[in-house]
Amino acid sequence: MKVVGIVGSPRKNGNTEMLTAHTLKAIAEEGLDTELIPLAGLDIRPCNACMVCLKEERCPIEDDLFPIYLKMKEADGIILASPVYFGSATALIKALIERAGYISRNNGEPFSRKVGGPLVVARRAGHNFALAQLTFWFQVLGLVVPGSTYWNIALGREKGEVLNDEEGMKTAWNFGKNVAWAVKRLKG
Ligand SMILES: Cc1cc2nc3c(=O)[nH]c(=O)nc-3n(C[C@H](O)[C@H](O)[C@H](O)COP(=O)(O)O)c2cc1C
Repeated sequence: MKVVGIVGSPRKNGNTEMLTAHTLKAIAEEGLDTELIPLAGLDIRPCNACMVCLKEERCPIEDDLFPIYLKMKEADGIILASPVYFGSATALIKALIERAGYISRNNGEPFSRKVGGPLVVARRAGHNFALAQLTFWFQVLGLVVPGSTYWNIALGREKGEVLNDEEGMKTAWNFGKNVAWAVKRLKG
């Protein structure tokens, strides 16, 4: 059983990556395999509506998306994490969810009934909207989304500041525990 945590920040080793690593640690503690997948530095372009994935399980855009799609398909759990940029999830994670979601949708819905959920970090505002953007993706693709002890948000601006948000870190940890619990029950 495996859970992947995809980090949609263009900044390496940033707050979103730290928060996601914390959630994955909580999951690993329960005996599941985990993999952190930072999108920083990768080339992930937006969907261009070519519709090739309507006929074949592939995307003709030659960038870094498809290997990540395959990891998502293989996993039992998928976590999507994003910082807030101008009140929204980042363009990077948006590009990934558009294309991975459309390939899945058009090729037998392999993400359906996996476990998953969002994590969002911001300096001050916009968490709820970004959280909703990511949650819509899980829901429209049929994943099971466990809750936590608060909404999955945390505060931080400079790298590492998120570690000082005790409630945010605790929420991410408890979310990880619930993801592990759900994966074991659904896939065990
Ligand atoms: C282009 C840009 C836009 C941002 N927009 C917001 C925003 O709308 N609201 C907010 O609270 N923080 C905003 N921030 C701050 C980031 O969300 C914050 O620094 C976050 O911790 C970055 O996560 P990271 O360290 O994982 O990259 C913005 C940062 C950047 C670079």
